[in-house]
Amino acid sequence: MNSSPGPVLRVRGLQASYAGNLALDLTALDLAPGEVVGVVGANGAGKSTLVNALLGWSRGEALLAGEVQLGGQRIDGWPTHQRVQAGLLLVPEGKLVFAQLNVEENLSRTFEPPAEPGRHVYSRDEVFELFPRLKERRQHLGSQLSGGERQMLGIGRALMMGPKALLLDEPSIGLAPKLVEQVLQTLRTLARAGLAILLVEQNVRAAMAVVDRLVLIERGRMVLEGPAQAVGNDPRIAAAYLGESGT
Ligand SMILES: Nc1ncnc2c1ncn2[C@@H]1O[C@H](COP(=O)(O)OP(=O)(O)O)[C@@H](O)[C@H]1O
Ligand SMILES: [Mg+2]
Repeated sequence: MNSSPGPVLRVRGLQASYAGNLALDLTALDLAPGEVVGVVGANGAGKSTLVNALLGWSRGEALLAGEVQLGGQRIDGWPTHQRVQAGLLLVPEGKLVFAQLNVEENLSRTFEPPAEPGRHVYSRDEVFELFPRLKERRQHLGSQLSGGERQMLGIGRALMMGPKALLLDEPSIGLAPKLVEQVLQTLRTLARAGLAILLVEQNVRAAMAVVDRLVLIERGRMVLEGPAQAVGNDPRIAAAYLGESGT
């Protein structure tokens, strides 16, 4: 038996192009169990294109190419729903929440993945334990929830589908600073339990507080990659994203 776990997610040569224009050209990215990797970059840099391409999906009609492995298995030829069932779960910017259903109903509209060793499928009670606020709001409709509550619900739904890797597209957007910290700290808790997480964030400072590694994307390409602290201290990050230019 091979005892080295290897990356949960292994990406090579991932490209997305719109009408011949390359919006994403990612040479290599690995995500290990229990690791939180942050993806930062300006608006339009290609962050959403990246997480969507991992799912084999694109807004509009992008041509996708490249190799994606989940748990050692090639999935890049698979349709999106099959990748989700295999444990690649994305909480998109839209939060993956049904507006006309209440919290409980939202949490029951998930599929139960096949039992697999090393794949933890969260129960509703475990989700409520992680996000007590959702339990308090269990009878409220998706449309009645705050941005933060919708984000918690989106993450909760993903957890109940047994993620091997969890991808989040800008979870902090529209959230009060205190909630941003709470939601991002929860990701740390999930990672401690072994989950691999790819976190797309515009809020670089908030991301730096929870990620192990940080990746900077510009025009679809990875231009910086390394430990959060090292990348965070790079002048390109400080000047453009942390408001520290001129100080
Ligand atoms: N539907 C589309 N049609 C054409 N080009 C698109 C489309 N969606 C995204 N793009 C291109 O891909 C680039 C990256 O977009 P996106 O991944 O949404 O950036 P980010 O999430 O980093 O803000 C955009 O600058 C745009 O040029
Ligand atoms: Mg985006």
